[in-house]
Amino acid sequence: MIKWTRPNYMPCDPLGDNHSRITACDRHIQLSRKAASEGAVLLKNNNGLLPFANGTKIAVFGKGQIDYVKGGGGSGDVNVSYVRNIYQGLKLKKEQVEVFDPLSLYYQDYVEEQYKNGAELGKFDETTIPEDLLARAKDFTDTAVIIINRYSAEAFDRKSDGTDAYFNLSKTEKVMVDTVTANFANVVVLLNVGAMIDTSWFAYNDAISSAVMLWQGGMEGGLAAADILTGDANPYGRLVDTCAKSFDDYPSSEGFHESEDYVKYTEDIFVGYRYFETIPGKRDCVVYPFGYGLSYTTFALSDITAYCTGKNITISVTVTNTGNAVGKEVVQVYYGAPNGKLDKPAKELCGFAKTRELEPSDSQLIQITFAVNDMASFDDTGVVAKSCNVLEKGSYKIYIGTNVRNAKELDYTYDLEETIITEQLHSYGAPERLDKRMKADGTYEMIACKPVERATFPCTYKCAEKPEETYMLLDVAEGKIDLDTFIAQITDDELIELVHGQPNRGVASTNGMGNLARLGIPNVMTTDGPAGVRPTRKSLVKTTAFPVATCLAASWNLDLIEEIARVGALEVKENNMSIFLTPALNIHRSPLCGRNFEYYSEDPFISGKMAAATVRGIQSQNIVATPKHFACNNKETNRKNSDSIVSERAMREIYLKGFEICVKESKPRMIMTAYNIVNGVRASENIELVEGILRGEWGYDGMVTTDWQTLGDPVKELLAYNDIKMPYSYPEQVKEALENGTLTREVLCVCVKHILEMILWLE
Ligand code: BGC
Repeated sequence: MIKWTRPNYMPCDPLGDNHSRITACDRHIQLSRKAASEGAVLLKNNNGLLPFANGTKIAVFGKGQIDYVKGGGGSGDVNVSYVRNIYQGLKLKKEQVEVFDPLSLYYQDYVEEQYKNGAELGKFDETTIPEDLLARAKDFTDTAVIIINRYSAEAFDRKSDGTDAYFNLSKTEKVMVDTVTANFANVVVLLNVGAMIDTSWFAYNDAISSAVMLWQGGMEGGLAAADILTGDANPYGRLVDTCAKSFDDYPSSEGFHESEDYVKYTEDIFVGYRYFETIPGKRDCVVYPFGYGLSYTTFALSDITAYCTGKNITISVTVTNTGNAVGKEVVQVYYGAPNGKLDKPAKELCGFAKTRELEPSDSQLIQITFAVNDMASFDDTGVVAKSCNVLEKGSYKIYIGTNVRNAKELDYTYDLEETIITEQLHSYGAPERLDKRMKADGTYEMIACKPVERATFPCTYKCAEKPEETYMLLDVAEGKIDLDTFIAQITDDELIELVHGQPNRGVASTNGMGNLARLGIPNVMTTDGPAGVRPTRKSLVKTTAFPVATCLAASWNLDLIEEIARVGALEVKENNMSIFLTPALNIHRSPLCGRNFEYYSEDPFISGKMAAATVRGIQSQNIVATPKHFACNNKETNRKNSDSIVSERAMREIYLKGFEICVKESKPRMIMTAYNIVNGVRASENIELVEGILRGEWGYDGMVTTDWQTLGDPVKELLAYNDIKMPYSYPEQVKEALENGTLTREVLCVCVKHILEMILWLE
């Protein structure tokens, strides 16, 4: 194929065998189904109630069996040809489980009625259970399944007032749970949710035997749930967030609703398990710890050894399936850096591996390696060395286990007699309004707020001589002319056009980039992720909806994530688009963030690893991946104008860490900045984050895009080398800035160069 044939001609050219279409093909949908059980987490399974014995009769309660939420809403939604709900999934297993249909059909009528009256999927309350149906269900079976579902979407956060069905159960849900537990001997709970909800109501209730966190499992989530209940698949996931006893136990809860204009990240680096495992008295607030998950079998870890080869530490361990069913285990390695001048979390994840499917008695040797320097902390105040990553002297403990809580300290420690500076960095993005931050003993360090002088990054670009004849971009691809000389031919007006989004073509709905026919620059289309490709609804193209990112992360299976990203990229390509707006890797700072489903975890290490695997999978198909939203977009309320007020250390160690891992490991071709403000400067105008940290310190050489319709000033965004404003903008404002000297041609050339390098990389 000639370069850029797809963007230029939008051919009807399927990618499958014998010229068949691969978009939403059976193989992709089956992969989605598999991923849903690979990420599902078995939270409780008393007396081995699950999987159900063949022939078990069940009564299924909850409108969630019909009103199945495949994923969240907004740009993370996916247009599919069908979604299989849990009732339908169970009916496909009629050889294995017998469902009490009248009850499920009652819920079906209720849900249809709600939809007819304008209620939206997942957004209405539970109904009551008629007495006669309850009595008949009881006659039918002593085994009940309760389904609780939740929906959330971009642009709004969940609530926490204890009455609405968000974090807590609603009143009607509580009544349903009480009724079911009072009437059935065996009760299973299934959670069809995109983010953490209250789990204590079943964890501490002996009347509920089993619980599975299904997350939002994509278009075949209902069948995947049935796979798990019947034992056709095992819930192979492990938690990627801590389940706390109550919403108030999360350290971010206190200030979450304090203001719509700002959020103070006063818990600092003590986010998620770093808080619960470190702060005195907080261990008891945990229902299920980070990394936790049961299995239909049991495992033992043995022959654990650890050694250091100078730069790296390697742990090896043998994992044996000691139970009676096949299973996969996730081995997790944590370190505990010594408390010195800088406070340290008790444990921090630094490596993990998932076994292959192990038969009973089978074992596998696992090796996990991480860099010594990964244990360094960022010193933002200079108590050790200002703006440096430092390894303080002392003993670094290493823990291995299958969740953060059961991870056992090894005999081996990594000992340092002297403090070492591993990297001299800079003070970028510092807060002006953070007045306190948490210490490892749970008290606060008070901070004197003061104005910060921001760094400047003068433009060093030199415009090349304009060539005598006209060259096309293809000439650059073919090495006939260098890119700078090519750019010299572009007029100022054309440069201004290029730093703005371009009209949609084909089935795209989120606009294009490039589009200068005079010089052969194609208009390359973007499309959303993360759960699947999102062409415009009008096109009628249906794609594969995979489980949400949290479910994928909970699989702890990097090979699976890479494969899902690879097939997602094929769906992008087959539909003649080029840029996949995924992965999204903001941090689950609060269970209430409306977009948590699109993000991976409360932990930056697993987030970074998942994002890197995703980028590798996407870019292996010459489709551009776009890690987003850089950075600190951890709340949706007033997201375009809310200031995330955060220390430099928390930023480096928690909120930027995942991006750093992803950029360094997988070289994404594009990064999307966030809507929000970070310490007083909009993320999209934040030259210290973009040019200082991302490009300067991490060596990122791809392009940077704004999020869609930011409130940022288009000129300031360009001056921060945020190369393009999407999906369109105000070219007159940029032109005026060029004319009055606020903006130079050189800056525009740099931005356009980044865009063209991205386009040149495409097929
Ligand atoms: C979201 C992005 C998304 C973009 C394009 C924005 O509202 O924040 O994640 O990629 O829209 O749909």
